[in-house]
Amino acid sequence: MTAMGDPVTRVDGREKVTGAARYAAEFDAPNVATGVMVTSTIPNGRIERMDLAAAQRAPGVITIMTPANAPRLPKGGKAAVHPPAGRVLSLLQDMNVLYNNQPIAVLIAETLEQAQNAASLIRVRYQESRARLDFEAGFDDTRAGSHNDQPADLSVGQVDQAIAQAAVTVDEIYRTPLENHNPMEPHATVAEWEGDKLTVHDATQHISGVKQTLARTLGIPEENVRVLCPYTGGGFGCKGSTWSHVVLAAMAAKAVNRPVRIAIERAQMFGPVGGRPQTHQHIVLGARSDGTLVAIRHHVHSHTSVFEDFTEPSSAVSRMLYACPAIDTSQRLVQLNVGTPTFQRAPGESTGTFALEIAMDELAYKLKMDPIDLRLKNYAERDPTSNKPFSSKHLRECYARGAEGFGWSKRKPEPRTMREGRDLIGYGVATATYPANRSAAQASVQFEPNGRVSVLCGSQDLGTGTYTVMAQTAAATLKLPIDRIDAKLGDSRMPKSPVSGGSQTAASVGPAVQAAAKDAQLTLLTAVVADAGSPLHGLDPQALDFENGRIIRKGDSKSGEDLTSFLTRNGNKPISAMGTAEPDQDTKQYSTHSWGTVFAEVAVDEWLGTPRVRRIYGVYDVGTLFNEKLGKSQLIGGIVWGVGLALHEEAHLDPGTGRIVNNNLAEYHVPVNADIGKIEVSALNIPDTKFDPLGGRGIGEIGITGAGAAVANAIFNATGKRIRSAPITLDLLMAR
Ligand code: MOS
Repeated sequence: MTAMGDPVTRVDGREKVTGAARYAAEFDAPNVATGVMVTSTIPNGRIERMDLAAAQRAPGVITIMTPANAPRLPKGGKAAVHPPAGRVLSLLQDMNVLYNNQPIAVLIAETLEQAQNAASLIRVRYQESRARLDFEAGFDDTRAGSHNDQPADLSVGQVDQAIAQAAVTVDEIYRTPLENHNPMEPHATVAEWEGDKLTVHDATQHISGVKQTLARTLGIPEENVRVLCPYTGGGFGCKGSTWSHVVLAAMAAKAVNRPVRIAIERAQMFGPVGGRPQTHQHIVLGARSDGTLVAIRHHVHSHTSVFEDFTEPSSAVSRMLYACPAIDTSQRLVQLNVGTPTFQRAPGESTGTFALEIAMDELAYKLKMDPIDLRLKNYAERDPTSNKPFSSKHLRECYARGAEGFGWSKRKPEPRTMREGRDLIGYGVATATYPANRSAAQASVQFEPNGRVSVLCGSQDLGTGTYTVMAQTAAATLKLPIDRIDAKLGDSRMPKSPVSGGSQTAASVGPAVQAAAKDAQLTLLTAVVADAGSPLHGLDPQALDFENGRIIRKGDSKSGEDLTSFLTRNGNKPISAMGTAEPDQDTKQYSTHSWGTVFAEVAVDEWLGTPRVRRIYGVYDVGTLFNEKLGKSQLIGGIVWGVGLALHEEAHLDPGTGRIVNNNLAEYHVPVNADIGKIEVSALNIPDTKFDPLGGRGIGEIGITGAGAAVANAIFNATGKRIRSAPITLDLLMAR
């Protein structure tokens, strides 16, 4: 028997490790041709001339789609589809170049090697214009940046006055760099037309979003588009939007009248498919001498492209994390000639907690207060800007359990006082938080004649465990062993489910599966009691139950019959039901968030400045864990990203060309095993039923939040050097 919360191993694990799991680029449509995106080499200007002669003569070339011959799309190919990044695509509709690495042609050939070779022979002449590439130089010409339902500006109280009267203030600038997601599986699309019907295999976090975007950009009915994605090799936000290559693959397949595959190159992960924008965050904290916060100011600049807005809402955390009577926040966008940035794991909260939680540490030092005591002193019992109560908040327990488990009491606050040989040792702490999101979702559950149960939901599994949570929810609801359940997802013909973003999949899909399972069960039990051949004939369906694959009278395991014997008598007809679940209206009365606290220990080599993370302990209040094993794996993965944010990740934009120069996994640094010491996580497992009937909140993103600041604060405790920009590299630590 399987219960919710059990640490069930991934049901798709075997397919993955044996290579049976097929990813988008691996779907071999018959006679599939290969498309390669040719991208611009200037950041701003116009294409004057494309010399295609040599490429056209190269072996294996089928055609070259350029702005001169690409089909004209309705409305120029613009797709007004949620989410707010990737609406404006580069679909070869004009000669304009708005960023370096922008798709400007698609070369279609028989094989990948032939396509790449021919693409390298294309020569392009541009008329160049001056490009906007300097982020901070753009601060006098900005746009207001809203994000989902978050306004660009949000203030309560009189912040100027409060700062003027504060006994202690911190007033600093914090910076985070441009970052890129780099899931192991780069984006890929295989597009195939049959008459006016389009089928695509796409690497995505949102099959129904891909379907909508394809239909709207191409000007065809949505029902003519089918999107398939049984496996996604990591997403982290970049696959939440539908980017240019998806539509280009469909256009190319039409042009050559054959299926076309476009698998984008690693270097094309740096520009055409988004990344985390750089942030400049000005924070002012004002406090009384006892540590009570009287003012929080958090003004954020982040960059966007020149043709579309995307906001990294870093100030969101200052709007809800600490009790404070005066809070002033703003989000401003600087337009640059770069590809539109996008959601990257905990967009806003990751970068926002990096800044705010370092500022809180600075304030604690100024006040000579323990950083945990400072946070407890300003513990928010209600959301300080919306004034709503929280649906559930047990952050105090996180601080207490974390401090105990980590050994916080052994910390010496004075920097450079904990040593081991040449290593300076430091402890740091920070708060983690991420909103709890949920959307309407549908699922269906079907009892098959062989006694197995199919669970269908048009969702996605980014590697996070959606298959497993679907199967586990059905198994727990139907009291069946999990190996009797077949979970299926990743087909836009299945019941509709939202984008797998904002950490909302489990909390959205789980209740829909539960509802469908209950309905299917009731339908089946109603048929059982109506069946004269059943030992349970004539009973009230409510008096029946499932137990281990049997249909029984409640409380009497020996009664009734096996599920399969009923289905056989039923003429081997499957019995199914649909379920829908959506957030309750009551949920709107609450501010819904997850919480946590992260403790880090670092060792910094005093001679070389090398920072090493020795251990991290995170304690989280994320509601009920649907699956302890997968949940903790997400939290640990998020913490690794936090270490990457603090110490490693940075995409370097060349100020001359607007191209990201370290556009590969050798030079774009992410943490490797040697960079990660010991990570332990613990979850309180307290259900939040005001948010979700299953009591769980999402866990995909909270892990990265707070982790970067905990490392940065530990580095200060070790070295006495306060580094306010990520990544914290050796040169910054060695600079005097
Ligand atoms: Mo997540 S960055 O909302 O996919």
